[in-house]
Amino acid sequence: MPQRTHLRAPADVEALIRHCAARLDDAGLAFGHGTDNAVDEAAWLVFGALGLDHADAEGAYRRPVSAADRQGVEALLSRRIDERTPLAYLLRQAWFAGLEFYVDERVLVPRSPIAELIAERFEPWVDAGTVRRIADIGTGSGCIAIALAHAFPEAVVDAVDISADALDVAAINVARHGLEARVRLIESDLFDAVPATRYELIVANPPYVDAADMASLPAEFRHEPELGLASGADGLDAVRRILAGAHERLADGGVLIGEVGNSQPALEAAFPGLAFTWLEFEHGGHGVFLLGKDDLPGATGD
Ligand SMILES: C[S@@+](CC[C@H](N)C(=O)[O-])C[C@H]1O[C@@H](n2cnc3c(N)ncnc32)[C@H](O)[C@@H]1O
Repeated sequence: MPQRTHLRAPADVEALIRHCAARLDDAGLAFGHGTDNAVDEAAWLVFGALGLDHADAEGAYRRPVSAADRQGVEALLSRRIDERTPLAYLLRQAWFAGLEFYVDERVLVPRSPIAELIAERFEPWVDAGTVRRIADIGTGSGCIAIALAHAFPEAVVDAVDISADALDVAAINVARHGLEARVRLIESDLFDAVPATRYELIVANPPYVDAADMASLPAEFRHEPELGLASGADGLDAVRRILAGAHERLADGGVLIGEVGNSQPALEAAFPGLAFTWLEFEHGGHGVFLLGKDDLPGATGD
């Protein structure tokens, strides 16, 4: 006679996280919007659903859970699995460079490896003491601009995006971080409507996904604004224009940092004469280049 098994309801937060992680694993989801595995995603989901404090994770893990707690978690878990919605959108929450941000479907979920470079203030490439004006091109949620403002307290940051919707989200985050005096939001098609300024540092995480990758994106990424991802057949539409315009926007000795991810080989092939420095990351990530003002098209002698 087949034995009947009684699945016991998870009794505490730790057991509930294990249960959620198993469900997430079975569902074959794509990660990459704040976590890269089912266990971390499950912990974030349970902490978010129950309003638990990440600063007291040990205490939170032993907290007993009620039937109502389990129901709330189950509702969120079902949406994550059935709709393939990134958890960051469901919780309206993301982290970048150790800072918390509001996010929704108007912006990409922050995940750029540039966070690691900001923490190091771009050493040894940038003399942080000289940086007073910074531009963040394609600011989205404002995460890079805001992290830059924290890392360079002497600097003002122009945060540029073509999307008014994205800038509305960035405004929420600028206010949350109390940076209205130092982060200026500018609606502009790349440099087109940016007031004439010479920046010591330009950081750009523009759209750079090529058409082939766009066609095969996992469902989670289709919840993100296409404007933040797609950039023409070879993924280089935006970065070509940034390379063409950066020289006249940089102060003498200034530096451009740009992210192109998987489009790195296409960029190198398209610009064989440019001396890209490809930056390395301790915590994962690739496809981020650095160019000095004198290396850019438009420099004397080009
Ligand atoms: C890859 S997302 C980066 C968002 C954010 N900086 C981050 O790291 O999460 C690219 C951003 O560039 C913006 N964008 C796309 N085309 C643009 C253009 N022509 N001019 C300015 N911003 C643009 C998109 O709206 C999107 O917010």
